[in-house]
Amino acid sequence: MANLLVLGTQWGDEGKGKVVDFLAPAFEIIARYQGGHNAGHTVYLGGKKVVLHLIPSGILHPDKVCVIGNGLVVSPQAFFKEIDDLKALGVEVRPERLLVSRTAQVIMPYHPVLEKIAEQSRGGKMIGTTCRGIGPCYEDKAARWGIRVADLLEPEVLKEKIEDSLAVKNRIFEAFGYPSLAVGPILDEYKALGEKLAPYVADVSVFLAGQIRSGKSVLFEGAQGTLLDLDHGTYPFVTSSSCTAGGVCTGLGLSPKEVSAVLGITKAYTTRVGSGPFPTELKDETGARIARKGDEFGATTGRPRRCGWFDAVAVRYACRLNGVDLIALTKPDVLEELTEIRACHAYRYKGSIMKDFPSEPWILEKVEPEYRTFPVWDRSIHRARDFSALPAGFLDYLKWLEDTVETRVGLISTGVDREDIIFRRDEFKKILGEKARVLG
Ligand code: GDP
Ligand code: IMO
Ligand code: MG
Repeated sequence: MANLLVLGTQWGDEGKGKVVDFLAPAFEIIARYQGGHNAGHTVYLGGKKVVLHLIPSGILHPDKVCVIGNGLVVSPQAFFKEIDDLKALGVEVRPERLLVSRTAQVIMPYHPVLEKIAEQSRGGKMIGTTCRGIGPCYEDKAARWGIRVADLLEPEVLKEKIEDSLAVKNRIFEAFGYPSLAVGPILDEYKALGEKLAPYVADVSVFLAGQIRSGKSVLFEGAQGTLLDLDHGTYPFVTSSSCTAGGVCTGLGLSPKEVSAVLGITKAYTTRVGSGPFPTELKDETGARIARKGDEFGATTGRPRRCGWFDAVAVRYACRLNGVDLIALTKPDVLEELTEIRACHAYRYKGSIMKDFPSEPWILEKVEPEYRTFPVWDRSIHRARDFSALPAGFLDYLKWLEDTVETRVGLISTGVDREDIIFRRDEFKKILGEKARVLG
């Protein structure tokens, strides 16, 4: 048994989709444990770009079972749209290979409206969310108003819950000048969605425990990233779920003993979508060049991503917090565009050196990054597949990165295609044992 957790070590969009797609052949099950259709995981399938939002990226492999855990917030409309989009690409999604937890929360039509009210009320301090209703749905979960997937299958329960919710939400809508919502149409729509969803609904915790007991292996696919984690990210500029390693157990109903190893997906520079502190941000032409070459536009909302230099303080923090065993380094090829490369190894704050990532946004906004500068390597590594052929300049940068974040790099992604990968089998053997042989 070797169950691998794959998660983002920055502010999301590190290339998790591509790496999950590459690793999937070594696992029987791919499970998401948090988030919702705010995620956008890009995979190239036969040269065609496919973006997964709610469904695990493993779905593109016809022999894999995919799981949506209780830690997610599920929009049934987004779920069926994604299935239709996949069918149009020739990917068959049968309920036998896509399970949705009975206790996952359901995004209701009032959630995006509440999100709009919240964002507008923040004025200049808006979070810049994906407007998918993610935050308000998690709020309802914590406030114990939430509607869960199993409730959709029980019309009487569903009716009562919608009535109770709307009694409160409509008063908020009224106060902010939004039209109130009626119970009837929502009930009819969600009853019908519940009937359509029924074949997919399962007790995910029981399913996974049984599969693991019988020797099957699970790849846990994180969404978002460590710095967007509700507790450990750059609060309040975060998402509303637990993207870090702890989220796996609560989000799937699994013991921590079932996570055998952790792979941290790390971009060779930094990007962020939405508002919030970003110490190494480049607001100049260099940032714009990285954005252009790296095609840094949100896979979900199409918004331009803010770009900046690699931040080893942040990634070292993510590695410690999640117990990252190995890093998968993505998009170093994008840096070849530049005349020199910089990477931050520490912050300076009020004249002192700071090596630990601070939790207070007002500190993070004021820190000054301390940089090390590297020359651009003399040969392109774009689409490189062989470690021994990498240029010395890149290897120097790689060694520095490993030493500074105190974690080994086990995989280097060098382009968008599945094959554009350098897989260091010996490193993976240490965490996956013989399974590493299936890959690369
Ligand atoms: P995710 O949310 O972590 O799955 O990442 P996204 O899919 O949102 O963003 C990553 C983007 O980078 C996608 O457009 C990928 O196709 C692309 N990408 C992934 N790895 C590489 C790489 O090594 N080099 C280049 N140039 N692009 C990559
Ligand atoms: P993947 O899985 C990058 C950001 C939003 C916003 C904040 C809160 O593709 O890496 P939300 O709608 O979740 O309440 O928005 O989180 N955000 C992401 N940024 N990648 C993502 O997912 C993100 N999901 C949410 O831009 O700043
Ligand atoms: Mg993304």
